[in-house]
Amino acid sequence: MELKTFSDHASLSAAAASMIIACVKRCPGALLCLATGDTPKLTYQMVVEYAKQEGISFEKCFFIGLDEWLGIPPENSGSCHYFLHTHIFKPLGIHPSQVYLFDALTRDEEAECEKMNKLIAEKGPVDLMLVGVGMNGHVGFNEPGTGLDTITHVAILDEVTRSVGQKYFQEKVSISKGITVGLKQVMQAKNLLMLANGKKKAPVIQQVVKQEISPKFPATIIRMHQNGILMIDSEAASAL
Ligand code: F6R
Repeated sequence: MELKTFSDHASLSAAAASMIIACVKRCPGALLCLATGDTPKLTYQMVVEYAKQEGISFEKCFFIGLDEWLGIPPENSGSCHYFLHTHIFKPLGIHPSQVYLFDALTRDEEAECEKMNKLIAEKGPVDLMLVGVGMNGHVGFNEPGTGLDTITHVAILDEVTRSVGQKYFQEKVSISKGITVGLKQVMQAKNLLMLANGKKKAPVIQQVVKQEISPKFPATIIRMHQNGILMIDSEAASAL
C-alpha cells in the first residue's frame, strides 16, 4: 500500500479524479466500482470537469455500485443509486446499459447478491475501485467482523453505520440492512483507492494505518493490497 497525504480535500479530490481519468485513458473499457458518501463527492465533480476539459469518453466503461441501503428506493436522495446518478452518471452522460447498481427493493436478496457476483466474475476484475472509510472502519458495507473472504452479501448494519448514515437523508429513515460488494472482491480490484478527509476521520485513519490488519477493522485490508493507495488530507492524517 502507498500512503499519500494532501494538504486539503480539494487537492486530494483532484489527485483521485486524475487517477480515474488516467485509468480510463489507459483502459477505455474499464470496469469501475464506486462508493458514495461525502468523501468522494468532490472527486466525482472533478472527474466530470476533467473529462470535459480533456475530451475523455467514458462510453465504453462499465460502472457498478459498491453498496446500497436495502429498502431505500432509488428516488430517495439519500440512496447510493440517487447519489451516483446525480454526481457522476448524469453529468458524464453514462447510458443505463453501462451501469449495474443493486436493487434496494429486491424481494430476493440472495439473487441480488448472486447477480453482482456473476457480473464481477464475468466482467471483472474491477479495474479501479474507489472506497471511503466508515467511522467504524467499514469498507462499503463490510462491517467490523466481516471475513476477508466475503463476496457480495447482505449486511446487518452496525449501530455506528445506522446513526452516521442518517446524515445522507432528509427525513429520519430506518436503515438496518445494506447490500455490498465483499472484501474479497475489494481485494481483487486491480487498483484500490481508499479516500478519507477531515478531522473526524483522524482516529479512524490512525487505526487503518497502525492497528493490526484484521476483520475487526475492515479498512486495514488496504495495507495488503498490491496497488492500494490510501489518500488522506492533512486533517485525516493528524493522528499519525
Ligand atoms: C458508501 C460507502 C461507505 C462510505 C463510508 C464513508 O457507498 O461505501 O462505506 O464510503 O461510510 O462515508 P463518508 O464519505 O460520507 O464519510
